[in-house]
Amino acid sequence: METEIIKIDQKYINMRLIDKAVKLLKDGDIVSFPTETVYGLGANGLNSDAVKKIYKAKGRPSDNPLILHISNKNQLKTLVREIPEVAEILIKRFWPGPLTIIFKKGRIVPDIITGGLDTVAVRMPNHPIALELITQSEFPIAAPSANTSGKPSPTKANHVIQDMMGKIPLIIDGGSTEVGLESTVLDLSTNIPRILRPGGVTLEELRDIIPSIVQDENIINIDVQPKSPGQKYKHYAPEAEMLLFTGDIDRIVEKINLQAEESILQGKRIGIIATEETKDRYNKGVVLVSGSRNKPNTVASNIFTVIREIDKMNIDLILAEGIDIDNIGMAIMNRLTKAADGKIVHV
Ligand code: TXA
Ligand code: MG
Repeated sequence: METEIIKIDQKYINMRLIDKAVKLLKDGDIVSFPTETVYGLGANGLNSDAVKKIYKAKGRPSDNPLILHISNKNQLKTLVREIPEVAEILIKRFWPGPLTIIFKKGRIVPDIITGGLDTVAVRMPNHPIALELITQSEFPIAAPSANTSGKPSPTKANHVIQDMMGKIPLIIDGGSTEVGLESTVLDLSTNIPRILRPGGVTLEELRDIIPSIVQDENIINIDVQPKSPGQKYKHYAPEAEMLLFTGDIDRIVEKINLQAEESILQGKRIGIIATEETKDRYNKGVVLVSGSRNKPNTVASNIFTVIREIDKMNIDLILAEGIDIDNIGMAIMNRLTKAADGKIVHV
């Protein structure tokens, strides 16, 4: 299949180009588009045959459910059985934005979306191109992240091109995504509001509104069985083996330097994922900077790019600095823990 790539400027949206994407979506085809978190791989969420194509292009297991993306709140009522009061408050505060809410599923939602579950995930993305696409399509757009299953999520059109070229008809290049990590997935379908995946909206922000909120323990401990189907799969994984170092930053630097020295003696090529503040303290291996540990949002927006870059460098072992797990740090450490397949060195 030939893949067309079109550039759309999110500040001056070219409606002729949007129409082109909408036509494909209406014909049951899939289109990759930017959101504020990561690029999505979208299809008509009410058309099972169209949604099947998403699973195929990603190589995604069919029991891993998809998020339905909407562009106005009226769409929500048609997709869910009930809207809890607390959801109303969260929606007012965080939509459009990087918060996905799990509801009891309405009858029109096809089983292929929910992987057979009785619940459905819905979010309203905060990106003008995504919103325009949904509004013009007049149906909810099902969209997982537009990476090959298991790979880091795409935060630039180039990442989508790497993974999806020849597999989908259209990629909308809307530039780099802002948040850089996926949305927070919050389950409101049971009595206890529970974060299943940390993301762009933080635990601290949610706790302000729901003091009793809990987090799935699997978020930073991969030995615990996750509550969200998608979280059980190997994810965000680089080709090379990766070790994640946590603890005091001076000791982290010291330990990474020692490990690098030892591994280089064994003939390994080493990649180090460092931060602005520490990058000059390494003198061995290839050093990549994910961002500033004083501004963890910069780490969030770059981390998937850095993992993809390191993969192209023929590295045998990646040594990654951890960061503090408060605020957006929780989501970053969740992704790094999974990328390292749980191999954490606490110093
Ligand atoms: O930021 C995002 O959320 C991006 C952009 C494109 O919107 N999308 C995204 O989708 O990350 P995906 O499919 O890569 O991740 C969705 C996560 C998966 O872990 C999936 O298992 C979980 O949400 N999920 C979806 N529906 C669910 C449900 N009904 N119950 C529990 N988990 C669900
Ligand atoms: Mg994903």
